[in-house]
Amino acid sequence: MKKIVGQIGLTVIALLLFLSCNSSKKEKNIDSSKIQVQGTMEADLTSPPMVPAPVGNRTAKKLIVNMEILEQEGTMTDGVKYIYWTFGGSVPGSFIRTRVGDEVEFTLSNHPDNKLPHNIDLHAVTGPGGGATSSFVAPGHNKTFSFKTLNPGLYVYHCATAPVGMHIANGMYGLILVEPEGGLPKVDKEYYIMQGDFYTKGENGEPGLQPFDMKKAVEEDADYVVFNGKVGSLTGDNAITANVGETVRLYVGNGGPNLTSSFHVIGEIFDNVHVEGGSLLNKNVQTTAIPPGGAAIVEFKVEVPGTFIIVDHAIFRAFNKGALGMLKVTGEENKQLYSGVKQEGIYQPEGGTIQTMPNNETVKTEVNLNKSLAEKIASGKQIFTKTCFACHQANGEGIANVFPPLAKSDFLNADVKRAIGFVLNGKTGEITVNGKKYNNIMTKQVLTDDEIADVLTYVYNSWGNNKTNVTPAMVSEVKNSK
Ligand code: CU
Repeated sequence: MKKIVGQIGLTVIALLLFLSCNSSKKEKNIDSSKIQVQGTMEADLTSPPMVPAPVGNRTAKKLIVNMEILEQEGTMTDGVKYIYWTFGGSVPGSFIRTRVGDEVEFTLSNHPDNKLPHNIDLHAVTGPGGGATSSFVAPGHNKTFSFKTLNPGLYVYHCATAPVGMHIANGMYGLILVEPEGGLPKVDKEYYIMQGDFYTKGENGEPGLQPFDMKKAVEEDADYVVFNGKVGSLTGDNAITANVGETVRLYVGNGGPNLTSSFHVIGEIFDNVHVEGGSLLNKNVQTTAIPPGGAAIVEFKVEVPGTFIIVDHAIFRAFNKGALGMLKVTGEENKQLYSGVKQEGIYQPEGGTIQTMPNNETVKTEVNLNKSLAEKIASGKQIFTKTCFACHQANGEGIANVFPPLAKSDFLNADVKRAIGFVLNGKTGEITVNGKKYNNIMTKQVLTDDEIADVLTYVYNSWGNNKTNVTPAMVSEVKNSK
């Protein structure tokens, strides 16, 4: 008897589960196609990193989208120009914000000054080519087609005109968001970021107008990997911002054409990731993979102030190819959540015996007396390679808009005591080097006076600098003048 009751119970549960799954499926697949539109509105389109206002609880509408294709010269990084092909004049193209059930009437205009035909494939479209077959348009013409948004999510759009890879590599991609009924939950700040890889005839940093390189693109040998179309689009004055205690949502896409992004914000954990831009919600994520032609929505609350570096965690792309941005958070410190340096001591791996530090004034000066300039430079180069090159780069060129150059540096050559002071004490705040402003943090370096003398001597005797020979005595003079 007990057994029979148990079986009936299980059957009822199974039936309920079946019914509930079935009805939610019904709701998703059938209802969105039957949502009636009420009224017409023109879509507000925005350039990155901004996004249009949330849909909130507005009803589904006929949504008019007018997008113009512009082929135009832009800056890849300082001194490097590139002819970008764009949707709406920016890379990535204008952000389109819709809700499920909208009937989007999309007009694509190809500017008469452009050289090539283009089209658009929106991954949010249910229909052949995602709209590509209906939108192929020659310069000086426009095309209109319409589609109904059936599935909520964050979707990539891109040009799909042959050679497709080349149109995408030149910047023809962007994001379209389809919000669910009632809209996404409210957050304080929203931003639009899209990664892309670029292939130029010249190597990374080679100045001038750089044409697209098909061979490198086929070999997936990118010269630049960047956020929002150029090096430095999200650093310095272009950084995105938030205040302590606010919730931040990033709409992150990857235009590719080739490289998958390992999207990461240094010093933050994503509270929520809408995996692949869809409805699956992952929690407490460090790095999220975003493939070319894919997207993710990441959300987190900022708890402490500071500059949070946004990277592709395939990390050479961040520090050597440009995939680096900044989120600047201002507000009150919270020492309970993050203390900063609490204590600094001497680490003795040899054991607990009490040791005294050698008096480096006498010992190091004596060593130094025997060192030739060439030996100091050789020793300095080793220290540079261990300590300095990650930011200032092996050839002293720095990283555009982020870390200042040491090569041919007017700032460095003007004042050796100031340079010694920076290595001894670190430096925070704005400086101008060779006419360009930098606003970053250099940490205090833990080096002996002798090592500081050598590394600075190496820097001053390299890359067109003024050949100053820095002595340990000069370092100790700066140290004691504090
Ligand atoms: Cu195109």
